[in-house]
Amino acid sequence: MGKEHLLVINAGDNFSGKGELAWKKAELIIKVNNLMGTDLIALGAKEYRVGAEKLSQLAKSSCAPFICANLKDHRQLDAPYFMPFLRFERGGRKILVVSVIDPAIGRYLKDDRLELTDPLAAVRRLQRTISHDVFILIANAQSAVIETWLKQLNGIDLAIMGRYIWLMGNKCKRLGPTMMVANNNRGKTMCYVDLDLDANGRVRIAKPVYWSLKKDTAPKDPLVAALVADYQDWEGRYHYDQRSQRLRQANADKPQSGRFYLGKDWCRRCHGAYIADWRQTRHARALDSLRRKKREFDPECLPCHVTGMNDKKAGGGFADAVITPQTANVQCEACHGPAGAHALGPEKNVVVDKVTEKTCRRCHNRETDPNFDYQRDLPKVNHSHIKR
Ligand code: HEC
Ligand code: HEC
Ligand code: HEC
Ligand code: HEC
Repeated sequence: MGKEHLLVINAGDNFSGKGELAWKKAELIIKVNNLMGTDLIALGAKEYRVGAEKLSQLAKSSCAPFICANLKDHRQLDAPYFMPFLRFERGGRKILVVSVIDPAIGRYLKDDRLELTDPLAAVRRLQRTISHDVFILIANAQSAVIETWLKQLNGIDLAIMGRYIWLMGNKCKRLGPTMMVANNNRGKTMCYVDLDLDANGRVRIAKPVYWSLKKDTAPKDPLVAALVADYQDWEGRYHYDQRSQRLRQANADKPQSGRFYLGKDWCRRCHGAYIADWRQTRHARALDSLRRKKREFDPECLPCHVTGMNDKKAGGGFADAVITPQTANVQCEACHGPAGAHALGPEKNVVVDKVTEKTCRRCHNRETDPNFDYQRDLPKVNHSHIKR
């Protein structure tokens, strides 16, 4: 269908909160809406969770205007980023779209620069002053509240309930002249409403259709899929960083005693020949393999491609390539065990772990290396060809 006949409405509650993660997600959602050609984004109560400052930043990056008729922005400068309403021409008819939020649920609005005013007064004012053939109201409120509003208002053709209300999305309801539809089912459905003209030339609203957004009914858009993949990359690293920070904190809190990792550069001081020998093995380049696959931050992949990760008893070993570059790749201590005490005082601490088949099997398991053969593979790594 041509764009001149289509109106794409995002009824709000897109964002999930404050913080870096929520912010990145919000940016992604705006980019995707830009690609979809969304015509407007109605503000829901959740939108304010990102804070007034961030919200106007998002509004600036969005092709679709953000609208809300009962939002008072005390900073006049930013006021234009939140429009009270929009009016579209479709099929020669004027379609007025207005959005309001129930102040009772706008409790996230802790920012004193934004304030919610009486929604009914705002709707009535626009009904009076802006000429239109069709009036669409997006209401961010509980369904019971919306119904009491609709009973006090006339001339609303379509009401979009901008909250998660009905468990299963496939519902609609007529209240007097108003068709009511639900906004969302947590992103699983989209509601589609046909407007046409009756015999008298009056706009008629057909029964809404809920469109399930599953793989087979809504194929992936390659551009959107790429954006989502980028985001997921970022999110993976984000979670990993958080984890590393906690790990680093835990290590800092704990005095280093007993078993701990130092990394190959310490071993080199006394075992130079072994380092040279080890460098010839793929163990020395194991992290590069992950980099090639862009998985070098993935906690699912890292433990076998680095040294001592998750070995909490010995202070953790590898955390990430920035914090703990000294334990990147499968080094000496991946096989010989944490050898910090030995390296700092070899005369007192000669014993390092015994290397057995079990040592290798931690990483060379049936899934990752089905062809592993201890007897055959051992000579490749036990420094057997170093002249002793
Ligand atoms: C200050 C010197 C020094 C440093 C540093 C050092 N070692 Fe040693 N290492 C020795 C000495 C001495 C021995 C005793 C055997 C020998 O003469 O080679 C030894 C023996 C070993 C053995 C054989 C143990 C055995 O039971 O036969 C391993 C394995 C080993 N070191 C691993 C490491 C690792 C891994 C590191 C780095 C974390 C490291 N060493 C750092 C001096 C050092
Ligand atoms: C901490 C995990 C880990 C441990 C422990 C480990 N390996 Fe590996 N090994 C790897 C990884 C990961 C690779 C692949 C490196 C790459 O290419 O990215 C590998 C590669 C190899 C290779 C090279 C394969 C080839 O065909 O060239 C051999 C041989 C090998 N390991 C033998 C062993 C043996 C024997 C042991 C035990 C004495 C052992 N490994 C212990 C993780 C480990
Ligand atoms: C349980 C330990 C383990 C985990 C977890 C693991 N690997 Fe490996 N990986 C290995 C071992 C062992 C080898 C060497 C196997 C061989 O020589 O065929 C290897 C080899 C590789 C190689 C080089 C060989 C090749 O096939 O090109 C790549 C790339 C790789 N892994 C990527 C990954 C990625 C990506 C993940 C996370 C999804 C991952 N690994 C998780 C143990 C592991
Ligand atoms: C993939 C596992 C693996 C890695 C990685 C590894 N080694 Fe070994 N290393 C062995 C095995 C197996 C032996 C044989 C003796 C044993 O069973 O402990 C051995 C033996 C040794 C010995 C004792 C040699 C002897 O003749 O008694 C030293 C010293 C040693 N390794 C140092 C190192 C150093 C230093 C590194 C890092 C550069 C390193 N190893 C990396 C598996 C490994």
